[in-house]
Amino acid sequence: MIIVNQRDVTDAVLAEVARAKDPRFKEIMSAAVRHMHDFVREVKLTEAEFQKACATIATLGKLTNESHNEVVLIAGSLGVSSLVCLLNNGNRGQTETTANLLGPFWRMNSPKTENGGSIVRSPTPGDPIFVNAWIRDLQGHPVVDAEVDVWHTSGEGYYENQDPTQADMNLRGKFTTDADGHIGFRSVKPIGYPIPVNGPVGELLRTQGRHNMRPAHIHFLIFKPGFKTQFSQVYSSDDENLETDVQFGVTAALIGKYVRHDGTPAPAPDVKGTWYSLDHHFVIEPGDAKLPRPPITGKAGGERPQSVILERTDPR
Ligand SMILES: [Fe+2]
Repeated sequence: MIIVNQRDVTDAVLAEVARAKDPRFKEIMSAAVRHMHDFVREVKLTEAEFQKACATIATLGKLTNESHNEVVLIAGSLGVSSLVCLLNNGNRGQTETTANLLGPFWRMNSPKTENGGSIVRSPTPGDPIFVNAWIRDLQGHPVVDAEVDVWHTSGEGYYENQDPTQADMNLRGKFTTDADGHIGFRSVKPIGYPIPVNGPVGELLRTQGRHNMRPAHIHFLIFKPGFKTQFSQVYSSDDENLETDVQFGVTAALIGKYVRHDGTPAPAPDVKGTWYSLDHHFVIEPGDAKLPRPPITGKAGGERPQSVILERTDPR
């Protein structure tokens, strides 16, 4: 098609997209083209702005490697990851869900651990926490023999794979639900952590005066044949960044009651002083049980990453 004016461009591209045989490809790409062209018209994108956008997208790719994914990070920082999760869970976005983002730190083959056992595998700073979780189906029945992976940061805000002072697989474990659909374990209370800001994500956050913190959370991955594998994160009710999670992951269903206990007897006799408890319930839906591709496969070498923390600033 010979293009006479700017309006013809959209029709020309849509006509070419329509040649594809795959109906889903056609649906997605024709919508993408329409929205992109409308977006360019709406904001009257200048040539300089277009060049900057192309350079930013290229940088997202250049910064992505085996241990870091800047593309996923910016998708989260713009709320796209959270939107996709909420549209694909909870009866396709109709009801509340305990599903959440997988995140970049899941490792396959974490150590199988008995219910009630500890996932503290080397001396780790942080207050002791005793976690109980129950897995139910949509009818409220316990899901028995589900595999539940858990992982989280230390009381210093590092996952073991980032931190040479922690043992391999520290603060990670794989549990199996009992007849009540229950797992339980001991650990240390995690704290929140900053996401990397050395690339386009940092530029995005600085431009908006946003901080780069994720509120403290414990990750869960629930696997049981016959059910859609559920990724989840249970956020700490006492974290100051719940409302401003840089990845927009905090949902009402996933604010966990991390209850502080001072001086009362803990479930383990060696615990004196302050400790925490967390009880949480998950609901999983029928579907395909599939494990994701592990975002990371082992510990990084060298020192802990340098944490850069951005302050949230007043926009006025
Ligand atoms: Fe995390």
